[in-house]
Formats: sequence, C-alpha cells, structure tokens
Amino acid sequence: MPDDATPKVWAGRLGDETSPIVEEYTAGIDVDLRLLPGDIAGSLAHAAMLNAIGVLTSAEHDAIVSGLERISDEIKRGTFAFQPNDEDIHTAVERRLVELAGPAGGKLHTGRSRNDQVVTDLRLYAKGACRDLTLAIADLQSALLLRAEEHIATVMPGYTHLQRAQPVSLAHHLLAYVEMLQRDVGRIGDARARCDVMPLGSGALAGSTLPLDREAVARDLGFAAVSANSIDAVADRDFAVEIAAACALLMVHLSRLCEEIVLWSTSEFGFVSLPDTHATGSSIMPQKKNPDVAELARGRTGRVAGSLTALLMMLKGLPLAYNRDLQEDKHALFDAVDVTRSTLEVLTELVAVLRFNVDTMRSAAADSALLATDVAEYLVQHGIPFRESHRIIGEMVRRTTTSGRTLADVTLTEWQAASPAFEPDVLGLFDIAGALNRRDRPGEPGPSSVAAQLDRVRTLIDETRRAAGPE
Ligand code: ARG
Repeated sequence: MPDDATPKVWAGRLGDETSPIVEEYTAGIDVDLRLLPGDIAGSLAHAAMLNAIGVLTSAEHDAIVSGLERISDEIKRGTFAFQPNDEDIHTAVERRLVELAGPAGGKLHTGRSRNDQVVTDLRLYAKGACRDLTLAIADLQSALLLRAEEHIATVMPGYTHLQRAQPVSLAHHLLAYVEMLQRDVGRIGDARARCDVMPLGSGALAGSTLPLDREAVARDLGFAAVSANSIDAVADRDFAVEIAAACALLMVHLSRLCEEIVLWSTSEFGFVSLPDTHATGSSIMPQKKNPDVAELARGRTGRVAGSLTALLMMLKGLPLAYNRDLQEDKHALFDAVDVTRSTLEVLTELVAVLRFNVDTMRSAAADSALLATDVAEYLVQHGIPFRESHRIIGEMVRRTTTSGRTLADVTLTEWQAASPAFEPDVLGLFDIAGALNRRDRPGEPGPSSVAAQLDRVRTLIDETRRAAGPE
C-alpha cells in the first residue's frame, strides 16, 4: 500500500493491496456523487440516534456533525480530495470523517452497513426524483392545457390507421395527452409511496445487536415507515424498477406526441410549424428545417426502456440478500430519471411555441367523407338498423368517390332514392362545426365536453402541485 493511502475499510481481513484494475472496475464513486445529500442526511440522523442511545458521547456526536458538514461543503465546492481507493461515496465520506474527527469518525458506522446505507440513500434520492418528475409532468400538462384552451373551435380530422376518420377539435386531441400524463402522475405517486420506507437498521442483512432506534431515524429522515424485514430491505430494488417503469411508459407517451409533431410538421401534413428557435437545419440541404427535439425525445425513449430492462435483468438471478450487482442500479435509475425529466422540460417549452396551422387543419377536416358515420347514425335515428344504414352510406361514398364528388354534393333526391328515411334536414349534416356540436356528451370532442375536460384537468393539475408540497 502506498504510504499516503488510507487503509481499506476491510483492511483487517484482507492484508494485501487491491489491484488497481480491480479498484477501478469496482468503484462506483462517480455515479455515487448524486447520493451525497442523502448520504450526509442519513449519517446525521444515524449519529443523532447513536448519541441518544448512548453509543456516542455528545462530544463525539458534535465532532461527527461538524465533520460531515465540512465534507458536504468540500464536495460541493469541489475541494474534496478523492483518493483512488475511495471505492464509493460511503467509504470516501468515512475516510475523510476519520481524518477530520479522529477516532469519533470511526464510530459512525456502528450498527450500520453500506448495504442498508446505500439503499437508504437511493430511496431518499428516489423520493426527490418522484417529486421532480411529478412537477415536470404538471408543467407539461399546463402547457398542453393552455394550447387546448386556444383551440376548442379548431376542427381537425381525427385519425385511425392514420386515415382520416372523424372530425375532432385540436383541443380534444391535445387533451388526450393530458389524460395520458395524468395516469403517469398516478404511477409515479404509487412508486413514490413505496420508496417511503427506511432500510437503516437492517445492517448487512440481519440487523444489529445494538438497541438502535429505527423509528427515530425514520422520523428524522422523513420516511413514512421502517422496513419490516432486514433481508428484503437490503436486497430490494423494486422501487427503482417501478420508477424506471413509470418513466418508460411516460416516455412512450411523450414519444407518441413527438411522432405527431414530426408528422404534422411535414409538408405533407402541414398542421404545425416550429419556430426557428426550436428547430434545426441541415448541413447540406439549405431548405431544411428539422424537428430534431421531437426526434431525439422519440429516440431517447428507447434508452429509458433500456434502463428499465437493465434493472430487471440486474435483479432476476440474485440470491438474497445484497450482492454487488446492485451497484448497477444507480446508472440505470439516474439515467431514466434524467432523460425523462429533461424530455418533459424541453417538450413543455416546445408545446408552448408550436404554431398550429388552423386553416390547414380545417381544410383537411372539410372532407365530408369524415361525416359518413354521422349520416349512418342519422338513419339509425330514423329507425334503420345500423348495419343497413352503414351499407347505404357505404354505397353512397363509393358512388361519389368514383364520380369525383363528395357526400356534401349529394342532392336530397339522391339521398331519398338511397333510403326513403332521409328528410330534407340531412343536407344540414355537412356543417363541420355542427358535427362537433353533435358530439358534446362527456368524453366527446364537442365544445361543452371539451370545456368540462379543461375544468377537470385544471383541477387535477392544481391538486398535483399541491400534493407535491414545498421542497
Ligand atoms: N457501492 C455499493 C453499491 O452501490 C455500496 C454497498 C457495498 N457493499 C458491499 N458490501 N460491498 O451498492
């Protein structure tokens, strides 16, 4: 061992110096830095409890508290001198604490293992990440809501199979995403509730022989409960899987929105254009304006699904309890959260600046074939069975299509020849605004229904923000 190196925490058992390549391969310190706030908070709570149960004197406790505060400060300022044999954030902090606080520093790890420590730190991080994600979702929902409010009367074709199907409003279409995101809020909230359990006191896997006051530590750290089984507590990463799963599904929702932005901004669709500030150009084709943000978000969805898969694969063959494989949880969880959060943030901005081409949408929706179902339902209201009316209108569509006309061009005489149930008011069906007004029950695209949807989601978004509480 080089003279200036601090001995490893297990130096009593393993006398020989660790190979540098092993040291490098096993280190998790770079990724671990994100855990620092939780690690310090956990150590402060643990030290306070050790003091309360008489394991630490008040003087030792004071030395540990000021040492931990100084370490936190050094790491924040970038003056903390990491050493090659600082395997992870826990050993680095302990090594420095002994330097600063002397033998008292060596007492902090009493009744604690890195196994319960690391998962406590990760749960603290995860709770904060859930809160951040939830608020970022609420921001994107608000951005969509604002755009929906502008476009209650903007008619566009709704699609199935990417073929024009029936008229909807742009507001109704945008609110579909708000609903999807609301379910994401629910999933992240569920995941957060299961993060809210404190493992400390579980030790390596079988607790401790010391009279640790786990409830006091949990209260101090703001955990809702203490874990019920010490083996499960150190082996469990379900909470990380749940967050990654919620992120993966949320990213899939965002990816669908992005696909529509890409599609709608083509010359073929022309439903939306991007301001120059939120588009990119081509290095070779001077005319190009590309929706790269939406494409990258769509692409990064794969990365988040990959993180979820990595976590599941990490766990699938692990015997109980802790195994070093679990160190890999952090890469996957941090990346899933970071990508999802940054995607939510950039899309919140993008949605706010999208320029919807209302006239293009309206003329795409003016295709009277979109009202074929309305005419079929008209006949139903006049006593014709739906299958029969579907056939009558289908034949009319075929006839008009082959003769280059539209349903709106069909005369009353022609309608009445197709079915005596038609009355003169059939000609009034081909007004597109009227078509939306006919769809005004709960959940439908009509203006009153959309106004009710807007009220509903406004309340839900407020509740989300309120429930997230202050930081
Ligand atoms: N760095 C480890 C992790 O991230 C901490 C726990 C190590 N425990 C052990 N017994 N080697 O999971």
